[in-house]
Amino acid sequence: MHHIPVELGDRSYNIVVQPELLHSIHEFLNELNHGQTWLMITQPSLYKHFGKELESRLTHHGFRVKTILIPAGETAKSIQQVEELYSKMLQLQCDRSTTLLALGGGVVGDITGFIAATFMRGIQYVQIPTTLLAMVDSSIGGKTGVNLPEGKNLVGAIHQPKMVAIDPTVLKTLPKRELISGLAEVLKYGVIDDYDFFQTVGNGIATILDYGDSSLIEEIVARSCEIKSRIVAEDEHESGIRRVLNYGHTIGHALETSLGYDTIRHGEAIAYGMISAGYISHVRGLLSDDEWLTLQNVIKQLPLPDFEIPKPETLLNVIRRDKKVRAGVLHYVLINGIGNAIIADDVTTKELSRSFEILQ
Ligand SMILES: NC(=O)c1ccc[n+]([C@@H]2O[C@H](COP(=O)([O-])OP(=O)(O)OC[C@H]3O[C@@H](n4cnc5c(N)ncnc54)[C@H](O)[C@@H]3O)[C@@H](O)[C@H]2O)c1
Ligand SMILES: [Zn+2]
Repeated sequence: MHHIPVELGDRSYNIVVQPELLHSIHEFLNELNHGQTWLMITQPSLYKHFGKELESRLTHHGFRVKTILIPAGETAKSIQQVEELYSKMLQLQCDRSTTLLALGGGVVGDITGFIAATFMRGIQYVQIPTTLLAMVDSSIGGKTGVNLPEGKNLVGAIHQPKMVAIDPTVLKTLPKRELISGLAEVLKYGVIDDYDFFQTVGNGIATILDYGDSSLIEEIVARSCEIKSRIVAEDEHESGIRRVLNYGHTIGHALETSLGYDTIRHGEAIAYGMISAGYISHVRGLLSDDEWLTLQNVIKQLPLPDFEIPKPETLLNVIRRDKKVRAGVLHYVLINGIGNAIIADDVTTKELSRSFEILQ
């Protein structure tokens, strides 16, 4: 079992990583239970797999639990869905004391977190992530939000959960492609912060994708959470160090936007983005020949579908339209050796363009 504190003063909380945690989660939630309504927000298939049992267990232990199901898929992360949820919550007589349980991947986590940040000016919530990506990334750090027709995550708030409860055994039902997508983010933590961890994950890719070693999966989830929570604790609002978490994400986002979110999974796009950013680091002399080769070899072990990578000009146009870039400088994350991320504000269009070409 791993207890990982996220140190944010009076908003601090724990991430608990423990196999079969869903069977004993009431023990962890007891101290938050004061007889209020607990509202679980999840998706139909996840309710069937884990939610129903969780609901009965909590009810059995004296919790007053209700459930609302939202459709699976990125389109549920919308203002319209948020409005429907507010109405249903009022019908269910939820109030300021209600505590939300986000049981699902990043979509459920982001929308539930956003509801928690805004319903009656803010209520408590607990993250119970069920995808690898949500376990190591989206459930930690309090970023919540929904999409607008104009773009992803354009409306949101930072609102920290009361706890992140991770049961890695739920990954057994996760489709392989989702597992691969999450594994790209796990590798990212090694690339930006911990060379040994990068090697460990790299050596374990085949085993992990086969669900062959549950203790290895538990270890890599816990280590990723440690790295993310340490960085978030240092810079909750992403004005400095938290930016290193965006390694591989400038081009990753450009790929997602130009290919479409239905075509490429987030982690798949990040895998390409990490190679692209590694290339610029190598050309700048920050990454030795050996490390550049290692970086590519490990990332290329992830079984990624073949995509037709858009032309550099197309990707550059997407990056130029990016709100964050238009607002000022492009804060681009490079690596000064594997395990050591740095921010560069002077990456040129020519460098970006070359780094896209090598992906073709
Ligand atoms: N808030 C943040 O800091 C942050 C960070 C990264 C990503 N995100 C957001 O996360 C979202 C993507 O999250 P995701 O990759 O988890 O996708 P997702 O939530 O859409 O989940 C992927 C699919 O897997 C299914 N699923 C989930 N857990 C399962 C399980 N254990 N067994 C079987 N099926 C399961 C879901 O029903 C869904 O169909 C995006 O909207 C992205 O913007 C947020
Ligand atoms: Zn990401």
